[in-house]
Amino acid sequence: MANEGVDQSKRQLLTTALTVVGAVGTGYLAVPFISQMQPSAKAMAAGAPVEIDISKIESGQLIRVAWRGKPVWILSRTPEVLEILETETDKLADPNSHDSEQPESSDNPLRSIKPEIFVAVGLCTHLGCSPTFRPETAPNDLGPDWKGGFFCPCHGSGFDLAGRVYRSVPAPTNLTIPPYRYITDTLIIVGEDTTEAVA
Ligand code: FES
Repeated sequence: MANEGVDQSKRQLLTTALTVVGAVGTGYLAVPFISQMQPSAKAMAAGAPVEIDISKIESGQLIRVAWRGKPVWILSRTPEVLEILETETDKLADPNSHDSEQPESSDNPLRSIKPEIFVAVGLCTHLGCSPTFRPETAPNDLGPDWKGGFFCPCHGSGFDLAGRVYRSVPAPTNLTIPPYRYITDTLIIVGEDTTEAVA
């Protein structure tokens, strides 16, 4: 019976030792696995994609979300706005966006995947102020030629409702279009495709 007690305590000691070795071994193996699962510093700085439900956006309405710490605008453009954008191009600095940043899917005159839904980074390309949304035509403070657009109060740059900059203003290029795609007809994801991401 005494031997049985010794055997049992030996067995217990052996079991404890194996458990400790097993835990250490598992921990040793787990460290590199976990470290591989951590997002890189670059990926963390890049920020996660943002999903935006546009099912409730009304025609003519602008909604704002944040992506990578920047404002992103989603504007539902009216048929009247689309007509103006297609015809009023003579005062624009870069109407075809040759010198501006947009993903291939928005590399067209309206700068969007769907004509009626406009998505842009809401930062002026001059020094980074956030322009104001001024959809009205010919307001007193912007003059009779204003057809609706975005106006930057910092130094007076104006953009149309496709984010295209007017001539002779401080902003050098059109507003930036972020990478985005439609998950469904009413759900957009911004920033998922980092190959098209912009700085
Ligand atoms: S920051 Fe917009 S005009 Fe200067």
